[in-house]
Amino acid sequence: MAVWYALADLLLSRLDAETAHGLALKALKSGLTRGDRRPDPPSLGVTIWGRQLPNPIGLAAGFDKNAEAPDALLGLGFGLVEIGSVTPRPQPGNPRPRLFRLPEDRGVINRMGFPGQGLDAALTRLQRRPRNGFVGVNVGANKDSTDRAADYVTCGAALAPYADYLVCNVSSPNTPGLRNLQGCAQLADLLKRVQDAIAATPVPLVVKIAPDATDDDLDDIVAVSRDLRIDGIIVGNTTLSRPASLRSARRQEAGGLSGTPLAELSTEVLRRTARRVEGQFPLIGCGGVGSGADAYAKIRAGASLVQLYSMLVYEGPPLVRHIKDELAALLARDGLASVSQAIGADE
Ligand SMILES: Cc1cc2nc3c(=O)[nH]c(=O)nc-3n(C[C@H](O)[C@H](O)[C@H](O)COP(=O)(O)O)c2cc1C
Repeated sequence: MAVWYALADLLLSRLDAETAHGLALKALKSGLTRGDRRPDPPSLGVTIWGRQLPNPIGLAAGFDKNAEAPDALLGLGFGLVEIGSVTPRPQPGNPRPRLFRLPEDRGVINRMGFPGQGLDAALTRLQRRPRNGFVGVNVGANKDSTDRAADYVTCGAALAPYADYLVCNVSSPNTPGLRNLQGCAQLADLLKRVQDAIAATPVPLVVKIAPDATDDDLDDIVAVSRDLRIDGIIVGNTTLSRPASLRSARRQEAGGLSGTPLAELSTEVLRRTARRVEGQFPLIGCGGVGSGADAYAKIRAGASLVQLYSMLVYEGPPLVRHIKDELAALLARDGLASVSQAIGADE
């Protein structure tokens, strides 16, 4: 197993990042990647939206945009997997190359621009899968759409019956203007329309925001979310900022930055979000998680669940088990019997 991963790792790290990602997804789909069936430590169990998850570590959106392998991904040991972002119509996204590794910084820059097979393809796959595990569905808008909110409504209404939670991604930096949907009036309108469209389906509705949100932005986003009784916020997406400490050759590529250089910023924005939410609904922490300590920091800052993507690029599937083992050890070190006792403990 270790040899297989070492070989795969060597091969994948020498390929263009997007080609490597495509191969990894193919391997998962074809069952070439062995899962991790070992049970999780009981302290990692979490209850959210009335559902019990074996652990709080999730795969963030963007890895499996078209719902090609959610079950194989769950089999790697994630407590939850989020597919998408799904847009109503298929679209090619931005020209390649559009995904870059920043190896010296353990970071990634992407300007994918929502390439995807569209709603029908994702819907068909989700309809065919057994309803096991916890799979979130993340929806977005087509680049050339004239009514962006309508795209969220279309995807949300169609996919909600097959989702364990539904995410409105209003924070991708790679679709021009999309982030404007985080503004108070636009966000309220969008979320209200999606809520109305899925009213018959009891699925938690979550909004995913940018780690570049200012305090004023957070005031608005949280006020709207509390007002509409949204079920959660994911903090957050990739950042447009470029920390001065970046060293890798590709650091000035256009797009959203993720991975280690995003960890601190996203945890701080999560903390500031949690202060405003006051426990009214759960938060999901995402950005730069590559260790149990990173996950623990987000939980202590107020996250009920944690997600990751970029560090999987560097570490491969064994990362999931490492993070879980380290998180369980940190809880035990601090005398905490469960993840729930650690949520917001730093406040
Ligand atoms: C290549 C790539 C594609 C992504 N695509 C999406 C997407 O389609 N929808 C979305 O909400 N987030 C997307 N993201 C953002 C991730 O879900 C996550 O929020 C961000 O990368 C921060 O987490 P990380 O540092 O663990 O990668 C993407 C990230 C990467 C690196």
